Amino acid sequence: MQNIFDNNINNMDILEFYKNKKVLITGHTGFKGAWLSEILLLAKADVVGYALSPEDPSLFQINGLDKRMKSYFADIRDYDSLRQVFIQEQPEIVFHMAAQPLVKDGYLEPKMTYETNINGTLNVLECMRSTSSVKSFLNITTDKVYKSSQMPHEESDMLDGFDPYSNSKSCSELITQTYARCYFKDSKCAISTARSGNVIGGGDFNKYRLLSDCMRAVIDDKEMVLHNPDYIRPYYHVLDALKGYMTIAMMQYIDHTFTGSYNLGPTNTNAISNQEIITLFKNKLEKDYNYSFSYIIQNDSSTIEDTQLLLNTNKIQDLLHWHPTLSIEDAIGEVATWTYLYKNQMDTKSHIQDMIHKVFHDE
Ligand SMILES: NC(=O)c1ccc[n+]([C@@H]2O[C@H](COP(=O)([O-])OP(=O)(O)OC[C@H]3O[C@@H](n4cnc5c(N)ncnc54)[C@H](O)[C@@H]3O)[C@@H](O)[C@H]2O)c1
Repeated sequence: MQNIFDNNINNMDILEFYKNKKVLITGHTGFKGAWLSEILLLAKADVVGYALSPEDPSLFQINGLDKRMKSYFADIRDYDSLRQVFIQEQPEIVFHMAAQPLVKDGYLEPKMTYETNINGTLNVLECMRSTSSVKSFLNITTDKVYKSSQMPHEESDMLDGFDPYSNSKSCSELITQTYARCYFKDSKCAISTARSGNVIGGGDFNKYRLLSDCMRAVIDDKEMVLHNPDYIRPYYHVLDALKGYMTIAMMQYIDHTFTGSYNLGPTNTNAISNQEIITLFKNKLEKDYNYSFSYIIQNDSSTIEDTQLLLNTNKIQDLLHWHPTLSIEDAIGEVATWTYLYKNQMDTKSHIQDMIHKVFHDE
């Protein structure tokens, strides 16, 4: 591995770092978890997952990850079960992504959302406190942890997410920071949090997400309903987000001074409106696959969300030299391609593995 402090961490170094390391992903059956599992398998890491059983359909199932990695299917709120896994597996690196991740479901089920996102984090931290194996822990939260105020948000902004989901993630952040300073300050374990903008990529079957709605409309041959065309969200590709997470976990493992909180998201030129996103998706399908995609616009006032979310990502760019590598056009194009392949029962797994090669092997 080359000198990591020479401002030039290359992608191969990241994969090389994870080789043979025991990595635990909580939430590996979800959208991001499945992509992260694929990358870590490519890196030849010893990867283990802990999450609820996969939904049907899910990327986890479509890619056959159940047969290619070790999984524990259990609830993150079940401390005893999680603790057994830590004792059994002795992970060195932990990515915590198991969560109720949707704003709308947070409004519908606030108690479940708080319990999953707060107690889940608490249980992971308690397991780490009683197991000495973990050297690097990354808690994946969201750009919604900040109190609404002037944007773009910086890491030092006040944490107080507006709605139950966002607020539960603010709490998760605060708990992590408290454990870091009270229990892990002088320990071998480095702890950070990653506050990510909206991530897109093939195989995301979650509800209420713009490109997931587009994907479902294509699969079902239906018209897509676009809510809130003027909302601007910091969208970027899941591979860029995961490369950022892997970089933080690696760098703090090597040098504890890199611990902290990091915003991750697109450069501001990539933060575009819902309407523009749909247009790029539609154009890709029509141009490359001769598939006609149509949508209608309906405004939705059922939840209260900021119309615009912008993030300042200077910290991770300056300290860790991370920045998104895929343009918003390429990121949306990847989702359109995955959708087309899936609809036509073609090989989506190879497409994902090719994308990982492209992002992690190209300099
Ligand atoms: N996708 C995004 O745009 C985005 C943006 C910012 C932050 N995040 C965060 O990233 C993480 C992953 O998001 P995602 O989009 O992959 O979500 P997802 O819904 O696809 O996956 C969630 C995962 O958490 C697991 N999980 C949920 N409740 C659980 C429980 N009680 N016990 C055990 N496991 C449980 C699920 O089984 C699944 O594996 C979440 O923490 C989310 O808040 C996502």
